[in-house]
This record gives sequence, C-alpha cells and structure tokens, in this order.
Amino acid sequence: MSSLEELERIREEALVELAAATTTDALEAWEARIVGRKGQITQLARTVGQLPKEERPAFGQRVNEVKQALLQAYEARLDEVRHTEVTAQLAREAIDVTLPGRPVAPGHLHLTTQALRELYDIFALMGFEVYESPDVELEAYNFDLLNIPEYHPARDMWDTFWIEDQGGAESSGRRLLRTHTSPGQIRVMRERYPEPIRVILPGKCYRYEQITVRAEHQFYQLEGLAVGTGITMTDLIGTLQQFARLYYGADREVRVRSSYFPFTEPSVEVDTACILCGGKGCAVCKYTGWLEIAGAGMVHPVVLRNGGYDPEVWSGFAFGFGVERPSMMKYAVPDIRLYYGNDLRFLRQF
Ligand code: DAH
Repeated sequence: MSSLEELERIREEALVELAAATTTDALEAWEARIVGRKGQITQLARTVGQLPKEERPAFGQRVNEVKQALLQAYEARLDEVRHTEVTAQLAREAIDVTLPGRPVAPGHLHLTTQALRELYDIFALMGFEVYESPDVELEAYNFDLLNIPEYHPARDMWDTFWIEDQGGAESSGRRLLRTHTSPGQIRVMRERYPEPIRVILPGKCYRYEQITVRAEHQFYQLEGLAVGTGITMTDLIGTLQQFARLYYGADREVRVRSSYFPFTEPSVEVDTACILCGGKGCAVCKYTGWLEIAGAGMVHPVVLRNGGYDPEVWSGFAFGFGVERPSMMKYAVPDIRLYYGNDLRFLRQF
C-alpha cells in the first residue's frame, strides 16, 4: 500500500471512530491516537523522507490537508459531545422552582403557658416581678421553714414525691419535688433581705396523688408574696380584687373566707363570682355563685423570721393560685389530664 493510500485509510477509519465517540474522554483519546504528537498521522508524515523525491511535495501537502481536516472534525465533534453532556447534566440536576414548598407546621404556646403569661402581665401592672425557684426542693424549704414541722398534721395536706438520691455527704437535708410554690417565699426572702419584696413565683408542683379528672400529679401554681412595712390584709384583698377584675372581667367580685394554712395567719380562701354564670348559680359553681380561686393570708411571723425579716418591723401577704383550674373553667375543659397528655387534637384548640 502506498503512503497516500495508507493516509486515506487512516483518514477514513479515523472519521468513523470520531463519529462513534460519545464522551469527551473518548474524544481526547482519539486525538492523541490520530493527530497527537505520537499519533498515526504524525508518524506517517515522518516517512516522507523514504519517498521518491518527486512524490514528496504532493504527499506532504496531502498529509497537512488531512491533518487539518481531521482537527476540524475533531473540534466540531468535541463541541457536539460537550453540548450533549452539559444538557444531560442540566437535566439530571434540574430543580423545579415552581413546585410548592413543603408546608412547615408551626407550633404554638401551650394552654398553660398562655395562661401563665397572661397572669404575669396582670401582676406586672401591679408591680410584681417574676421569681423562679427550683422544682427539686429541700424538705426544709418545702415544709419546716414554712412552719410545717415533721409530724405536724398539716403535712398531710401535701402528699409528697421524695427524691431517692439525697446528694451525698454535703447534702443539706432530704430532697423532694416541691408540693407547692410556697418554698420560693423563703428563697426570695433570704436573697432579698432587707429590701421590700413584691414577686410572683410560678412553677410546676408535684403531688403523690390519685390521678382523676380533677387532680393531676403535676400542675402549675402561681404564688404571690409581698413583704414591706405596714402591709395589711386590706392590701391583700385589694390586690386579689384587682386581679379578678383584670383576669375574669371588670365587674368580678371577690370574697374571702376564713381558712387555715400553716404559713399564713390569718389565712383565707379566696372566691370570685363564678366565671361562667357570673354569680347566678350553675353546675360549675355547684349553684353557689362562687368559685374558689386561691389560698392566701398574712405571712406568718415564723415564716417572716425564717426568711430573715423581723416580724416586729415587717409584714407581708401571700397567695397561691392554681393555674390550670381557672382555664379549665374558662374553656369548659372537662378533664385536667388533657393538659399534659400530649394529645394534639386537644392542644391545637387553644
Ligand atoms: N401553698 C398552698 C397550697 O399549695 C397554697 C397557698 C395558700 C399559698 C395560702 C399561699 C397562701 O401563699 O398564703 O395548697
């Protein structure tokens, strides 16, 4: 086969292979093999010296023509393949920006949190700040310092969850889950003495009790404490009256009935006109027209002294509300267990 025939054979085969190459990798391999520095065309061109002199110019010219033509064909094919590859990649990675987004389900505040915040706002208007005290309490704070010694029958008012791990040698007494928010009274007094005090103490309380539609073993209370000079029972009743107006409605009356708590003297129970019937009498207030909303009283001298305040100089009042009960009545929730049962069908309603 003559060199020219050989050249034509390479050219034809190369064009067929070029058309068959479908990736840029295959094309680059083709280029090296055909028109690269060690490619078939280049090697064939080097054989020009072996030809008879008169054939050399025509062969050299033809080699150059073929090489240029193949290079052009190569560039054209490369463009095509690149285009196909990019198109395929775009299709693979396509994002449909017109698809609707996945809806985010926003939560909302729990019914109890809503109630607490409303209470904070009302008491803030009367100058009460929020003071938080721990859920895990010392027995002394929950009972003894509040004038409830061990073996005092009043301890039976609060059935208690005791903490088993008593915290080692440096422990300062038995621990429990607070049965009411009243221990915070001692904590805030010991921290603030000798300043006057006006705080509310919100928090979860725990009682080792039979769970029923009316009683949970965990529930919230909102405690109030005011300590100063010349504070009287009238201040307590005025504060509760103002609270009832702001929380239940402008014309809500309150009344107090004599009662007993170890940490207040005198002690009262506070009623407000029934929030459902307004005092006319209904099933919720058992046809009395009144609902009990709080325990309260003048801070007992022993408790003042345990907080560091001399009862000869200082006086104060305290009160304790349940937080769930009023909202149960407001929304006619029939069962307190719904509050912490995590049933979204219930929670979403508020
Ligand atoms: N700690 C009481 C309880 O859980 C409620 C209470 C009554 C709080 C009278 C007070 C108060 O501050 O003065 O039953």
